[in-house]
Amino acid sequence: MAVRITPSVLNADFAHLADECARIPGADWLHLDVMDNHFVPNLTLGAPVIESLAKVVAQPIDAHLMIADPDRWAPGFVEAGARSVTFHVEAAAAPVRLAREIRAKGARASMALKPATPIEPYADLLPELDMVLIMTVEPGFGGQSFLDLCLPKIRRARELLDRVGGDVWLQVDGGVSLGTIERCADAGADTFVAGSAVFGADDPEQMVQALRERAVA
Ligand code: DX5
Ligand code: ZN
Repeated sequence: MAVRITPSVLNADFAHLADECARIPGADWLHLDVMDNHFVPNLTLGAPVIESLAKVVAQPIDAHLMIADPDRWAPGFVEAGARSVTFHVEAAAAPVRLAREIRAKGARASMALKPATPIEPYADLLPELDMVLIMTVEPGFGGQSFLDLCLPKIRRARELLDRVGGDVWLQVDGGVSLGTIERCADAGADTFVAGSAVFGADDPEQMVQALRERAVA
């Protein structure tokens, strides 16, 4: 199974964002956490920052929208240059229409689930998606502890995706580190966000490679 490491820059130095991204040439994608202080109790960055960053970084941008009303805002992130746009299903009024709109604009469409949101009610939506993101912490902040209680949901998502077929990626986000990535990979995840593990390391690029090796093992 292909493995993708998609580091989150949430714990990087925001004053030098492009330089921070250049420190991890081995990353497959760059994960940008958009928070609006409504859907989550934290405020980060928006489409203008992604638009500027997309012009200067080597990797494609994976925008994780932790925002209210993604139906209104998500298409703008495709226009800003994000190649993958993830909306939270808890916040979307019309997830099918939104996924189709993101795809029609030319990006990968992805749906995220908070830890307490079950995957089963959304099983029929999976063919509309390019990725499912299972949150393994409550969204809002980097540096939180991995929630083992999310592992059964990763397994169930893997089973459902295998049944659907196609190439829908299964991403995990929150507390992913050398100590937890193996559990996620065993459960069936193939795309791994890591924030503090990568940018808290002395050598972020080496950490990206170490995470990849452990996920494949
Ligand atoms: C949390 C964000 C994550 C966060 C991950 O709400 O969605 O992407 O940056 O950070 P770590 O890896 O430190 O949990
Ligand atoms: Zn994220």
